[in-house]
This record gives sequence, structure tokens and C-alpha cells, in this order.
Amino acid sequence: MITAEDTVAQALSTYERVEDDIANFGISVIPNAIPSAMLTALLHRVTSMPKHALNPAGIGRQVGHQINPFVRRDHIHWLDGDSPVESTWLNWMNGLKDHLNRSLMLGLFSYECHFAQYRPGGFYKKHRDAFKGQANRRLSTVLYLNPNWQPSSGGELVVFDPANDEVELRRVSPSFGTLVVFLSEDFPHEVLPANHMRYSIAGWYRINNSILNRIDPPK
Ligand code: OGA
Ligand code: MN
Repeated sequence: MITAEDTVAQALSTYERVEDDIANFGISVIPNAIPSAMLTALLHRVTSMPKHALNPAGIGRQVGHQINPFVRRDHIHWLDGDSPVESTWLNWMNGLKDHLNRSLMLGLFSYECHFAQYRPGGFYKKHRDAFKGQANRRLSTVLYLNPNWQPSSGGELVVFDPANDEVELRRVSPSFGTLVVFLSEDFPHEVLPANHMRYSIAGWYRINNSILNRIDPPK
């Protein structure tokens, strides 16, 4: 039987591993990071959504927002905590925020995330999630929800060297329960074409910057 204490202990050990990895390398890749019951419920949530709830993802924010199928082809659904499993996940990620703020003084302020569905052929070209001095995304997170993902299924996350974006640092299979966390401004990364339906939750911890003298809204 899995008790509440086991869940807390697993969370704490994952939080501590993320803390060490971010402090030492700026990136953390942790297999089996999350209780499997939560993973199963999250996968069920995204796969049971009506098709129209998942919309083509864009690039840029607000007025700069545009759909560009040559850059990315995923379909997304922002989480708002309106189902029990979404709240459980958001609480879990809030716990990580509090842990990292206490231990590394990162000043993380809020967390936003969306489900992402890459249909066969889906990809996301090399990009960074934030640009120095321009955005307030500080830490990127990705949780993968794909049981039995095979090497032939493609869809790996490729992470490049911050100093040279031609140099590959890591190649991560989007396997069920793997959590990736990295400094948003530092690491160029890309999603290789997926040959099968690929599900994940991509999210960002933000600091509370105001840009151009206006309060920066969530999303
Ligand atoms: C993103 C992203 C990576 C992934 O959504 O910005 O880079 O592996 N996702 O899904
Ligand atoms: Mn990204």
C-alpha cells in the first residue's frame, strides 16, 4: 500500500535532486519523479479531453503571438486546476517552487503549465524558453506521460550547450514519469519529430518582473 508518507518522501527526494542538479549543472533529468497514480490520472485527463480542448500552440506572447507550423506543431491545453488531478499536480509543483526558493533563493513567484500533445510528425525546433533581460521565465519544467515509449518512437528532447548551441548535451526520451527541469534562459533545446502520439506537461516558474513598466500578467 502507498501511504501519504511515501508520497511526501518521494516528493522530498525529487525536490532535493532537482535542487542539487540545478545548483551544479543548471539542468535536472529525473526518471520516475512523480507518484505513478498521479501520472496515470494526468495521462487520463489529457487523453479524455475533447479534441477542441487542445489548440495549436503558438510562439511569442500577447500581441506577438502567432501560429507557425514550421517552428512547432504541438497542441496545448493550459492547466487551471479545475480538476482534482490538476490541483494535485499544481500543488506538487508549488512544493518544488517553495523548496527551490528556500534552498537556492531563486525568487520563483508563480507557475504556469500546459498539457502538450504532439501528434505523429509533431516537433518543436530548437529554441530557448526565455531571453536574457526580456522575459521572466526562470525555470522550465517538462513532465512526460508516455508509457512504453520506444527509441523508434522518436520525439526525444535534445538539450544543447548554453555556450554553443551546436553541441548536444543531453537527449531525453519522453518516458512516463521523467521530469526535466532547466534554467529557461540558458539551454537551447528542441523536440525531435515524434512518430507516435506524445504527451507531456510543459511549465515555467516565473519571477515577478514587470516589463516596460507594466505588470506582467500570467501566460
Ligand atoms: C516547450 C518545450 C519540450 C518537450 O514546450 O517549450 O520545449 O520535450 N517542450 O516537450
Ligand atoms: Mn521549450
